[in-house]
Amino acid sequence: MREIAIEFREVVKSFAKINGGKQVILDHVNFTIPVGKTTVIAGGSGQGKSVLLKLILGLMPLDSGRILVSGEDVTGVRGRQLERLRTRFGVLFQGAALFDSLTVYENVALPLRERSTKSEQDIREQVMAILTQLELTGHEEKFPAQLSGGMRKRVGLARALQLKPEIMLFDEPTTGLDPVMTQDIYNLFARTQEQVGYTAVIVSHDIPKVFNLADQVIVLNNGEVDVFDSPEAMQWSREPHIVEFVESTMGKIYQSHLVEQ
Ligand SMILES: Nc1ncnc2c1ncn2[C@@H]1O[C@H](COP(=O)(O)OP(=O)(O)OP(=O)(O)O)[C@@H](O)[C@H]1O
Ligand SMILES: [Mg+2]
Repeated sequence: MREIAIEFREVVKSFAKINGGKQVILDHVNFTIPVGKTTVIAGGSGQGKSVLLKLILGLMPLDSGRILVSGEDVTGVRGRQLERLRTRFGVLFQGAALFDSLTVYENVALPLRERSTKSEQDIREQVMAILTQLELTGHEEKFPAQLSGGMRKRVGLARALQLKPEIMLFDEPTTGLDPVMTQDIYNLFARTQEQVGYTAVIVSHDIPKVFNLADQVIVLNNGEVDVFDSPEAMQWSREPHIVEFVESTMGKIYQSHLVEQ
């Protein structure tokens, strides 16, 4: 059996509506995320992709159900246990969340300063290497307010990759980047994953680009999830919302061999 990094068991998540009632985001959802592979989370805006990542990190409570990380039940953990859980993840949220008062260099060096015992020189080497990979050399001394949106995103990515975490959670890592940089970033993910062997969970609208990386695809729709073992497997789905998703994101050409059969 394949090893499981993250498991959702009968997870329910809803938000109270202002006028009473509930908005159900995840309705008794079950899925597993395999170790060392890339899982892409897809689905329309507002379907709960970012909420799903926040639940994994314990940033929001569930209504019911359980979440397991490496087989350990982490539902509702707090304090020290929650801190320990979070050190296992590298996270890039939508919007990058950099520290405004720190330079690019300091933002990227921060996790190494806080969580490693590396010397200043080792830190400098490692930070400069990742900044070079992400085409940020020459901008180390700038503050986040002096960067473009795409540059901020890349700084956030550089920071998330510093500790070579077990599990990477990326929320739309390439939104706002040009197509070449988008492709470069996905290539970097593929290379880094090969080197580090981390489990990746990527929320992305860059379909089909991101599908080149995907080992598994999870589609969120109206509180339910559909899990596909490969992007190709999605094309065989007859579910109307998946067919529509495939047509609108990948184009009909991807379905041509459905007709040939
Ligand atoms: N803290 C919150 N309180 C109330 N409702 C919330 C909260 N966070 C998210 N929601 C609601 O949950 C739904 C899912 O939000 P989420 O941010 O997960 O969407 P998403 O799939 O990431 O969308 P996008 O592709 O636009 O980023 C939305 O309707 C949103 O308004
Ligand atoms: Mg989102």
